[in-house]
Amino acid sequence: MKDSPFIYGTTVSIQSFTNRETESLKLRSNLLNGINTTIISPRRWGKSSLVEKVISDINKKDKKTKTVIIDLFSVSSEEEFLENFAREIIKSSSTKWQEWMSSGKDFFKKLIPKLSLGIDPTADFSLSFDWQELKKNSDEILNLPEIIAKKKGIKYIICLDEFQNLSSFKDYLIFEKKLRACWQRHKSVTYCLYGSKRHMMADIFNNPSKPFYRFGDIMLLQKIEASKWVPFICNSFVSTNKIINEKTAQIIPFVMKNHSWYVQQLANYTWNLTQKRATITEINAALNELINANTPLYQKEIESISHTQLNLLKAVAKNETQFTSAAVMKQHQLGTPRNVSKNKTILINNDLIHEINNKFEFVDPAFELWFKKQFFNQAYIL
Ligand SMILES: Nc1ncnc2c1ncn2[C@@H]1O[C@H](COP(=O)(O)OP(=O)(O)OP(=O)(O)O)[C@@H](O)[C@H]1O
Ligand SMILES: [Mg+2]
Repeated sequence: MKDSPFIYGTTVSIQSFTNRETESLKLRSNLLNGINTTIISPRRWGKSSLVEKVISDINKKDKKTKTVIIDLFSVSSEEEFLENFAREIIKSSSTKWQEWMSSGKDFFKKLIPKLSLGIDPTADFSLSFDWQELKKNSDEILNLPEIIAKKKGIKYIICLDEFQNLSSFKDYLIFEKKLRACWQRHKSVTYCLYGSKRHMMADIFNNPSKPFYRFGDIMLLQKIEASKWVPFICNSFVSTNKIINEKTAQIIPFVMKNHSWYVQQLANYTWNLTQKRATITEINAALNELINANTPLYQKEIESISHTQLNLLKAVAKNETQFTSAAVMKQHQLGTPRNVSKNKTILINNDLIHEINNKFEFVDPAFELWFKKQFFNQAYIL
């Protein structure tokens, strides 16, 4: 049996990647033309996949540009960041590990890196510094890509995923200033910074009092449209010897409001349940399975918010718009106008709701279905 053509839970830069032509072109052109770019979107719409796709295209065609993608998800201190950064920059500077090992004398003036290689050099290349020295001379690491690029006549594109994680470091504010001061002078390095905590990213890049304000172009990544999802779903079925007609396929992005992760997840469950031809019966069963699989997460989400926040979420589910009108506050027990305003900010910052065309909506379409079933007994069966 063939594997499912639908993928979620990991980035989809090559297989399973669809559409994003305009965004890919724009990002590629920015990165190749030295325009630092920040990508912001709600969770799981496809930021990391887009960057991986564009970087893999650049790697195929442009050998003079070295690219680096670093995921900062599990990086928890400035020291760890600097070592990680230096290691990846050195690794991508050359395909020869012998050159990595001579980088200490070639590229560093003040710092003395301790370099080591394991049995498999590409996987086991590590580098460390004396922490006191590193703290004093962190500029040398932050400027490393520019120094290497100048010496070797190359360019760098450096992509930092989960960039907002830096703000959890001790003494982050000082570090943030230093980063910006170094990076803005780089002529041969372009930065692509993105992350999944939308409000934190927005605060770093949209706040005029912060160092990264106007660091570069900000791309607000949109959803993939239904008109692009439908042929993708139909073709993926056909290529794996199954069938779904266009009308049936339309249901999948419709129910999942074009949310990238969930469209893939629902399509995957539907595909798994389909012997030969997918119908609404398979989609219904798949939707049930999807909601069941995600229920523990949704329950946790609800447990983490207060009673009045939950009430505000209920008001959003009931399509209310005037949250501070006396009638709405009374009907949904929202508390005072101050409570409403504070709770709204909390729900927005937790990425539970967002404002679209002057109306608040759930960010997560499947959570919304679960929520309406849970609290209003509204069936989600199609
Ligand atoms: N261009 C695409 N074509 C098809 N599916 C996509 C595309 N982009 C994203 N997806 C789907 O969405 C899922 C999430 O994508 P990705 O991890 O790139 O999003 P993200 O915005 O980086 O998420 P997070 O905010 O959690 O970091 C993928 O696993 C895949 O199922
Ligand atoms: Mg991501």
